[in-house]
Amino acid sequence: MSNEFAGKTAIISGAAGGIGLALAEVLAKQGMNIVMGDIDNVALTESSKGLREQGFEVLTCALDVTDYSQWEDIVTNAKEKFGKVHMVINNAGVGGTPGKVEDSEHETWRWVMDVNVMGVLYGAQACVPALKEHGEGGWVLNVASMAGMMGMPYAGAYCASKAAVVSMTESWVPELKPFGIHTAVLCPAFVKTRIHESYRNRQQKYALAAEKRIDKEKLKAGAQAATKAVESGIAASMLAERVIEALKSKQTYIYTHPNYRKVTTARFKAIDEAFKDAESSTVVGHLKDDDIVTF
Ligand SMILES: NC(=O)c1ccc[n+]([C@@H]2O[C@H](COP(=O)([O-])OP(=O)(O)OC[C@H]3O[C@@H](n4cnc5c(N)ncnc54)[C@H](O)[C@@H]3O)[C@@H](O)[C@H]2O)c1
Repeated sequence: MSNEFAGKTAIISGAAGGIGLALAEVLAKQGMNIVMGDIDNVALTESSKGLREQGFEVLTCALDVTDYSQWEDIVTNAKEKFGKVHMVINNAGVGGTPGKVEDSEHETWRWVMDVNVMGVLYGAQACVPALKEHGEGGWVLNVASMAGMMGMPYAGAYCASKAAVVSMTESWVPELKPFGIHTAVLCPAFVKTRIHESYRNRQQKYALAAEKRIDKEKLKAGAQAATKAVESGIAASMLAERVIEALKSKQTYIYTHPNYRKVTTARFKAIDEAFKDAESSTVVGHLKDDDIVTF
């Protein structure tokens, strides 16, 4: 098979189900060797079996993305089995639990930030040296969300974590480009997966210290709304096909729901218009290009 992916190796976090598994399958079909990492060993064994039955070359590794040493291990194992690493997909992510700002559980924020933000940093940090060392270039694909492009009431932790992923990607694009490494951020709206049941993989280290602070009824209502939204989403297989298409055309921002364009358009318009207020300000309005350092 001749395409830019064939014969190369991809490490995918959170590959036991949902979007990660769909990406594993579509990239395996492109001829890639797949290294699947996940915190859920039972699901990982089952999913990898399905890929092997289709004749794909797959390696599985236990991976909790919040533990940097496990990222080092997966890179070592990938190199031992396949020789080189060309792609990392930082896909593992959790939805957290909805809640008002004043009710925010610190343990939940730490869980969401550790998995969704630090997990992405650790993945890139552990894999980028392996991507650089062979000189053949490669890919860093970070899975954010439309939630990274907009704030949503009662979902501050998730939105903040995904906005961080967008921002990290934007920082790494120019850093890694000289090495032939294409960095991209995937921003889907709803996809039919088990994201609304993320609590199933919540590690003990983020267990709630103050059970009494949770309003179970509100949690139930929020969970029902999330389930309905996720179940209305596109199939993970469709998203995965779209990712291949967008990686081939070297997109930095990968969108899967064109109908959400109005969200970013409205946001950027509001941000841009706020500059008019600064330009007419009696305090800072006089600052001109020559006076200030721009990035
Ligand atoms: N489903 C959606 O509507 C949607 C929309 C936008 C973005 N996303 C993002 O897509 C990514 C994949 O989520 P999904 O929708 O497939 O959900 P999912 O829950 O079906 O799959 C997530 C996978 O990540 C694994 N995982 C969870 N915590 C982990 C950890 N600490 N270390 C390693 N693996 C871990 C789970 O075991 C699971 O296999 C996430 O980053 C999510 O935020 C999902």
